[in-house]
Amino acid sequence: MLSALVTIACLLASANVRAASSKFTCTDVASGYLVLGSTSESSDAERLKALGPLDQSDTPYISHDYSPPLFTLESCNSTYMGFPPNMTWQEGYLVVYGRWKLNGKCVTAGSNGALALKTCVSADGKALVNQFFDTTFDAPTGSVSDQAETQLIGYTTNDTSLAMYTTLTRHRKTDVVSQTETPPSNDGGSERRILFYPETTSGKLPS
Ligand SMILES: *[C@@H]1O[C@H](CO)[C@@H](O)[C@H](O)[C@H]1NC(C)=O
Ligand SMILES: *[C@@H]1O[C@H](CO)[C@@H](O)[C@H](O)[C@H]1NC(C)=O
Ligand SMILES: *[C@@H]1O[C@H](CO)[C@@H](O)[C@H](O)[C@H]1NC(C)=O
Repeated sequence: MLSALVTIACLLASANVRAASSKFTCTDVASGYLVLGSTSESSDAERLKALGPLDQSDTPYISHDYSPPLFTLESCNSTYMGFPPNMTWQEGYLVVYGRWKLNGKCVTAGSNGALALKTCVSADGKALVNQFFDTTFDAPTGSVSDQAETQLIGYTTNDTSLAMYTTLTRHRKTDVVSQTETPPSNDGGSERRILFYPETTSGKLPS
């Protein structure tokens, strides 16, 4: 009897360990620049500003960067998140589900939505929600060579979907790109989005 209980306890424990350390695999898909696009009510033209980490601190926030670095987009097969690594829509859009990496770290949304480079999550669980982006390539060929719009997803396929907004929050007098569930208010009618420009042969940011 006792040994049967011990056996069951051991089975449960090993199942728990497996669940907690469940792994997923990520694959590099594209490298290129992240850019903040802003439009306002007063102007139709979209203003573009390249993005990069602010500094080398423990929490390098994502902000404007005059010498922008090359980020890597990777797709991941996380069971917890539930999204496929990529998906093609009939109209020819290619959506890649995964993470943005730079210098071995992942673009991560903090509790207030501010994006910063942080350690990439290795367990297939809740913390991944803060690192999981969808990136939509307007690509009739299903390729990743075109400009794309990217955004934190903010939920798993088991959750109710919600809309995320790209905003700016202030951290030590600097504007940090952020992802929030709350629509930006009182912002002069401006709208923002994060764009991805695949690395070009010239290595220059398209304008
Ligand atoms: C992810 O892909 C890897 C490599 O193809 C595979 O070994 C692993 O089982 C997959 N994991 C999930 C959760 O699908
Ligand atoms: C998502 O929901 C399905 C069906 O209820 C369940 O089997 C699965 O374990 C859930 N996945 C996660 C990651 O919670
Ligand atoms: C999309 O996923 C499939 C397999 O799931 C893979 O073969 C293909 O290379 C992926 N495409 C891109 C652009 O990542």
